[in-house]
Amino acid sequence: MNRPYIICHMVTSLDGKVTGEFLSKDECAEACQVYYEINRNLKSNGFICGRITMEGSFTGGYYPDLSRYEPVRHGCGLKTDFVLDDMTGFYAVAFDPKGKLGWGSNRIIDPDGDPGYDGAQIIEVLTEQVDERYLAYLESMEIPYIFAGEDEIDVELALFKLKNIIGCETLLLEGGSVVNGYFQRADVIDELSLVVAPIVAGKDDKPLFTDSSLADFELVNAEKNGTNLVLNYKRKK
Ligand SMILES: NC(=O)c1ccc[n+]([C@@H]2O[C@H](COP(=O)([O-])OP(=O)(O)OC[C@H]3O[C@@H](n4cnc5c(N)ncnc54)[C@H](OP(=O)(O)O)[C@@H]3O)[C@@H](O)[C@H]2O)c1
Repeated sequence: MNRPYIICHMVTSLDGKVTGEFLSKDECAEACQVYYEINRNLKSNGFICGRITMEGSFTGGYYPDLSRYEPVRHGCGLKTDFVLDDMTGFYAVAFDPKGKLGWGSNRIIDPDGDPGYDGAQIIEVLTEQVDERYLAYLESMEIPYIFAGEDEIDVELALFKLKNIIGCETLLLEGGSVVNGYFQRADVIDELSLVVAPIVAGKDDKPLFTDSSLADFELVNAEKNGTNLVLNYKRKK
């Protein structure tokens, strides 16, 4: 396989939603703990999140003052990937097409020091829509970046590069709904790992996949964990 093996790991409500208020309710607290426990035990080279999830969980909306940076020109108008000499480790891969995320460090600083996230080396996946001064900012922070697409991120190209340039064999896809939907439509989700919390979400909350396409999965395991159901599925080939 010329891309990493992808496990989509998520907490869902009883009605299959993954975003919104239900996640912060007491009824969902145990599900979140089970989710983090499973996350720590899944063997992978890192995790992928969409720009909105990264902002909510790790950057808190910080953005650098780009006027302090000179545009990075890689010649002929082509955007060139930037990687570090030593690219071994555990990665936090941000799907951030326009370069909207501001990082205070080139590694994830998890407030709880959770080893499933804390210390992960950040990698930005960008499109050609990015401001070239943002590239200079990333380089000054020693944050690697790869290009995959003109307007939208080409998921298959991004995964090809994550395997062949960075060396990722397995990655967790950890939301939210929009990035999960891009992966589902590209048919690159090999496994689903779901923690179903005993709660129904609100009407405006988003499903596991935004804009999904028809696909079938095979149930591999189902077990009760406290008040939650833990489900594992593999993509039927
Ligand atoms: N239940 C769970 O286990 C779980 C896990 C993680 C997150 N969440 C929840 O999910 C919510 C956020 O989910 P969300 O669906 O709103 O957003 P999201 O998937 O986190 O991020 C979506 C954004 O990522 C960028 N993006 C991702 N893939 C792209 C592609 N292929 N091409 C172009 N752009 C791409 C776009 O950024 P731009 O907007 O910059 O173009 C897009 O708007 C959070 O509130 C969080 O609480 C839940």
